[in-house]
Amino acid sequence: MTSLRPLSDSYGRIIRDLRISLTDRCNFRCLYCLPETEEAANFYRTRFDSVRNPNPTAPKLPDWKPRSELLTFEEIERLVRLGASLGIEKIRLTGGEPLLRQGIESLISKIVKIPGISDVAMTTNGFLFAPKARQLKEAGLHRISFSLDSLDAANFKKMTGREGLKEVLAGITLARELGMDPVKVNAVVIRGMNDHEIEDLAGFARDRALSFRFIEFMPLDSSRAWLKEMVVPASEILERLKSKFDLKPVVSSNLSETARRWAFADGPGEIGIIAPVTQAFCGHCNRIRLTSDGKIRTCLFSVSEHDLKGAMRGGASDSDLAERLRAIIWQKEDRHHIGEAEFVQPERSMSCIGG
Ligand code: GTP
Ligand code: 5AD
Ligand code: SF4
Repeated sequence: MTSLRPLSDSYGRIIRDLRISLTDRCNFRCLYCLPETEEAANFYRTRFDSVRNPNPTAPKLPDWKPRSELLTFEEIERLVRLGASLGIEKIRLTGGEPLLRQGIESLISKIVKIPGISDVAMTTNGFLFAPKARQLKEAGLHRISFSLDSLDAANFKKMTGREGLKEVLAGITLARELGMDPVKVNAVVIRGMNDHEIEDLAGFARDRALSFRFIEFMPLDSSRAWLKEMVVPASEILERLKSKFDLKPVVSSNLSETARRWAFADGPGEIGIIAPVTQAFCGHCNRIRLTSDGKIRTCLFSVSEHDLKGAMRGGASDSDLAERLRAIIWQKEDRHHIGEAEFVQPERSMSCIGG
């Protein structure tokens, strides 16, 4: 319940959405996030040699945070309660892979009951979802987003570094059977890697009544191998989909939505395109992020973070924390600078920040 002035930044954006990374660990090694395999390194080196990769470093995995540095569930619950009192309405649990965090359902069951929190969602790679699905649903999880970059087992392995297509598909099926609606599924599109599957992935969305979103590849990979040549622009994705499917635009009143969406004229499901690179949506951003080690990031591309864990463990009161959060959010960046000369890639990759 909002009892105080809502959180706003110096550009007048009101913050309603808090994304919480529960762990920096992940059981996958996606090319666009946490690549590890020699195959992944070779893909980057050979495919784009002609355009000169300035960062041809071998993929290096980050050092995982020790458990003592992770926020406890009690600390997370306290921050959500505080956020809710300041106007936060939506919580998204992310990672790394959030399902690697033991007892996640007990955290969910607590935060869904916090007054003012109307939406609790999770982003997962889906590998561990099926065995946990019922517990998550019973705990009160409202929505779920899966990552699925390929429908071809061999290509799935190239994209994620793991064999897991069967498990992820089973997870998506079960989420629908349990009545989760919408079930969002995300694919990061990388030129030369999975862009030939765009139409098949959209067909999959129609067959399974999913909300399937194609995401432009952003420079948030741990190997710093991103090149703009690897990005398949939203305009190209849309043109290809329109030539294969009869699509009707979905009009949304939610300005902060990341995706532009289209429904299939002849079936259930819809596709969305998330275009942070070619059609940035920063002007309506209502999101902040909390890392698993208790730092607030005001933008995916922030180059500095603001520690709340230290303050909490040092005995800060709720009103101290509220004032600190207000001051942090006031400094939220106006936008990202991908593709501009002054762009600096954040030190931490998406696996630590959360999607
Ligand atoms: P909900 O509204 O909570 O359902 O979230 P969403 O529809 O925005 O979806 P989700 O949280 O799954 O985000 C999908 C993807 O969009 C992420 O994995 C990111 O790739 C991208 N994305 C999400 N938020 C931001 C953001 O603030 N900035 C940028 N540049 N990209 C974002
Ligand atoms: N660019 C765009 N999206 C990314 N994700 C992870 N890394 C990137 C990137 N470099 C998205 C994945 C997943 C979520 C956790 O973040 O699609 O759904
Ligand atoms: Fe918001 Fe930063 Fe994402 Fe832009 S890049 S939408 S400002 S989090």
